Amino acid sequence: MGKCCQVSKLCVLSVVLALASVTTIVTVWTVMLTGNYASATPWTSYRLPATLVPIRYSVTLWPRLTPDPQGLYVFTGNSTVEFECEKETDLILIHSNKLNYMALDNKQLGQLSAQGDVVVPGVTFSWLEAPTQYLVLQLNGMLAGGQRYRLYTEFTGELADDLAGFYRSEYVEDGVKKIVAASQMHPTHARKTFPCFDEPAMKAVFQITLIHPRGTTALSNGMETNITDISVDGVVGGNVTRTTFEPTPRMSSYLLALVVCEYSNVTAQQGDTLIRIWARRRAIEEGQGAYALNLTGPILQFFQEYYNITYPLSKSDQIALPDFYFGAMENWGLVMYRETHLLYDPVTSSNGNRETTATIIAHELAHMWFGNLVTLRWWNEVWLNEGFASYVAYLGADKAEPTWGVKDLIVLDDVHRVFAVDALASSHPLSSREDSVVLPHQISEQFDVISYSKGAAVLRMLSDLLSERVFVQGLSSYLNHFAYGNTVGSDLWEHLQTAVELNGVVLPGTVQDIMNRWVLQMGFPVVTIDTTTGTVSQRHFLLGSPEPSLKSPYNYEWLIPIRWMKVRDVQTDPWWLKSNTEKNIDMKTTGDEWVLANINVTGYFRVNYDCGNWDKLLAQLVIPVINRAQLVDDAFNLARANLVPSTRALQTTVYLSAERQYIPWQSALDNMQYFYLMLDRTEVYGPMQDYMRSLVTPLYHHYNTTYNQVNAVHMSCSTGLEECHNLTSGLFRQWMNNATHNAIHPNLRSVVYCSAVAAGGAAEWDFVWLLSYTLQPNMIRKQDATTVITSIASNREGQTLAWDFLTDKYGVGSFNFAALISGVTARFSTAAELQQLKEFKANNSAAGLGSAEAALEQALERTEANIHWLQQNKHDEMLISVIPDKSGERERDKRQMVPTVTKRVTKNASSKEKTIASTKSYV
Ligand SMILES: *[C@@H]1O[C@H](CO)[C@@H](O)[C@H](O)[C@H]1NC(C)=O
Ligand SMILES: *[C@@H]1O[C@H](CO)[C@@H](O)[C@H](O)[C@H]1NC(C)=O
Ligand SMILES: *[C@@H]1O[C@H](CO)[C@@H](O)[C@H](O)[C@H]1NC(C)=O
Ligand SMILES: *[C@@H]1O[C@H](CO)[C@@H](O)[C@H](O)[C@H]1NC(C)=O
Ligand SMILES: *[C@@H]1O[C@H](CO)[C@@H](O)[C@H](O)[C@H]1NC(C)=O
Ligand SMILES: *[C@@H]1O[C@H](CO)[C@@H](O)[C@H](O)[C@H]1NC(C)=O
Ligand SMILES: *[C@@H]1O[C@H](CO)[C@@H](O)[C@H](O)[C@H]1NC(C)=O
Ligand SMILES: [Zn+2]
Repeated sequence: MGKCCQVSKLCVLSVVLALASVTTIVTVWTVMLTGNYASATPWTSYRLPATLVPIRYSVTLWPRLTPDPQGLYVFTGNSTVEFECEKETDLILIHSNKLNYMALDNKQLGQLSAQGDVVVPGVTFSWLEAPTQYLVLQLNGMLAGGQRYRLYTEFTGELADDLAGFYRSEYVEDGVKKIVAASQMHPTHARKTFPCFDEPAMKAVFQITLIHPRGTTALSNGMETNITDISVDGVVGGNVTRTTFEPTPRMSSYLLALVVCEYSNVTAQQGDTLIRIWARRRAIEEGQGAYALNLTGPILQFFQEYYNITYPLSKSDQIALPDFYFGAMENWGLVMYRETHLLYDPVTSSNGNRETTATIIAHELAHMWFGNLVTLRWWNEVWLNEGFASYVAYLGADKAEPTWGVKDLIVLDDVHRVFAVDALASSHPLSSREDSVVLPHQISEQFDVISYSKGAAVLRMLSDLLSERVFVQGLSSYLNHFAYGNTVGSDLWEHLQTAVELNGVVLPGTVQDIMNRWVLQMGFPVVTIDTTTGTVSQRHFLLGSPEPSLKSPYNYEWLIPIRWMKVRDVQTDPWWLKSNTEKNIDMKTTGDEWVLANINVTGYFRVNYDCGNWDKLLAQLVIPVINRAQLVDDAFNLARANLVPSTRALQTTVYLSAERQYIPWQSALDNMQYFYLMLDRTEVYGPMQDYMRSLVTPLYHHYNTTYNQVNAVHMSCSTGLEECHNLTSGLFRQWMNNATHNAIHPNLRSVVYCSAVAAGGAAEWDFVWLLSYTLQPNMIRKQDATTVITSIASNREGQTLAWDFLTDKYGVGSFNFAALISGVTARFSTAAELQQLKEFKANNSAAGLGSAEAALEQALERTEANIHWLQQNKHDEMLISVIPDKSGERERDKRQMVPTVTKRVTKNASSKEKTIASTKSYV
């Protein structure tokens, strides 16, 4: 929902209203410390001291699904944490955020005990340290090394609608408002639910009990073991149900999950594992859980075999929530999703929805082993966890839906997407130093497109080099060795290295030598092949001008495995480019011979050729389909980096009139999108429209059933092909005449609505608006606001509106601000816009830009590159002359509102937020 034409200013207003209702919490027990913050006391450090390690938590939580007399929704709870003292200390530091504590013994916030005849020191002073999010207890004696103790606390917190920690979500079913209590602990919100050692390496067993209204269901990571109705005396609403759960395996606090709801479910059994899909009753009745249920068994089975480790829990729950911060979250045994990412409605969902569902489920289930069973020690190596899951998600989805060719889509959805960001000087390496990722917002910042998509791309490259068999052997050994523990990235390289040696794989260095160059330095190379001499060279690929200030421990040189072919001869082994320039005599060509490198784009690099080879390649349809897409993407980006002329880029599109495959078309449309963004207000616009229409018309006539149909209809209508307008307007009118029966195929709905409304009048607009209004009684959910605003920005007319809205009303600290910055500034290409960005930065940097800082730097750099590109190309007569005048008419179609954003049919250009350029939509 919420695509281009279903959006209006009214929507924007409601977003403002929804976002304004962020409640604040008053921490009554906070004792303000007048101490000196500059001194290095343990509680001013954001990292836990290495003194105490948790063993087991027993936590009881009671969320109230009706407001208290002040109108607040709260939860109460108590917790006992058993921990071991590793190093003598008289101080207990445990994470706690926005919780209020009851006074216990001696009016302290916690009560310390131990089993047996252990001397337990008394608590002399206890307080909440809000900036670093700790509960601190000062003791009157030392805890002894090697000894175990227990800390008991009682507390209350707010069940706020902030999508963080234990939170509240609302929906309406059969006219009745329903409340769901759900959790989002990752990365640092478990501490907002109960006091805990909230770092990924602090693994422990969690024994959860939930108290909840009778008639509701309580879920957590472990299976329900005892559901008993109880009465709590003297408490309003004291007739409740108590549900206890199997203790979790030893795991990180960020993987804990809690839900209280009135959902129903569908179930299946896969081996010893119970599979349940949970959703709103109505959605389950309508069969919307069936697709996820069908997929989960086969995907779990695939990963058990892939990792060669059985699924370690007795059940696998997956639940669709009305409001969820991320697209999905891999809580062990209870994975949570936004509704759109888990549910599939056979009546209204498109192929694209189905593919997104399959890949996201596979991504989350992959984490049950890689991430949950074995966890990275700290957030500076998030990329390994997320990159890995993103890569194997394609393998899992392919297993579940073998006819879709899902594996190839990684090139569009991850490689191309991250190339765009990693080609900027403001990019960053995959791995960061541990001490540079400390503050909660620095942790959140790690979950960007680099971690997910570049991570996926370099792991795919490595797997290709070692062969999938050897890769999996090393991987399985790593997971078995570190099960229930924590690792650093080099642990994986070591296990892969052992597999390499066992199998006699020949590499130009160790796995670590090769991977360090891709992981520890940002960016990627462009490999240039001169087929007249056989000279092959590499250099750091940057869209802007090279920045001498950029430093790398490897001097921006990579060890590059090049898979290549000469005419039809595919070389079996990759050829390694190990330095800046080398010769490969075999790559020299004569006569009609041509060379194609980076077959199937298994390597994370771009390729440039001498002119003669480019010319020969452009005439080839025999090269693999992925490489047809890649030639277009490479040429367009080489042009943006001034390494080939823009005319060369446009020439790669001429063959499209003969192309029928989805991947090359999507690649071309993504790249033409840049031309549209930059040029749709210039004199080049008319000829460009004519040219694109001439390319897409054969496709329009060829296709009407599959993926590419959406592209065909979208491009044909937006370039003004009359038959296309007649088709969409006709379909739309049928629907308007009989609003209860929508005959438009779900795959085509979005594009038909957009083009019919663009070509139509007020009647069409009102019809769509009316519908989206009534279908969405509370208009737009907070999690969808980003999509709405970026959709507005993608329209020529909406751009200014969106920017003003973002800067005046939205505020830097708002939900997903970083993603919004990238989306809203995509077409910035004038000096005035650059100035606006600079002013925005200046006005806000004092207060701190938080996680938006990186996004703003990227926007600045991209805008500068755009200005430069436009100066070079706008008045380029060559550019106009290269566009063949096939249509005979060059008059600009005045009816067009030009939906300038290419709607993706398949998985969106996304991860933490769909449709947004720089963040991912699932964890
Ligand atoms: C924790 O709270 C629950 C519910 O109020 C109560 O039944 C339980 O006894 C408490 N636990 C402890 C250790 O006091
Ligand atoms: C569940 O808890 C109740 C109350 O503590 C107890 O009487 C009952 O035996 C338990 N049932 C199971 C199956 O453990
Ligand atoms: C789920 O699988 C069943 C049985 O194979 C099949 O009939 C049904 O169409 C599938 N549902 C979806 C939504 O794929
Ligand atoms: C899978 O694990 C089992 C036992 O852990 C081992 O015997 C077997 O060789 C492994 N299979 C593969 C393909 O590595
Ligand atoms: C390239 O990918 C295609 C699938 O798109 C596959 O059929 C082909 O075997 C791959 N080619 C090579 C050389 O790996
Ligand atoms: C799509 O193609 C089929 C078969 O080629 C044809 O019967 C049908 O009429 C076409 N539909 C449209 C909307 O062009
Ligand atoms: C589109 O519809 C108009 C009006 O109904 C008609 O005159 C025209 O011939 C149609 N064009 C095509 C290409 O079908
Ligand atoms: Zn993930």
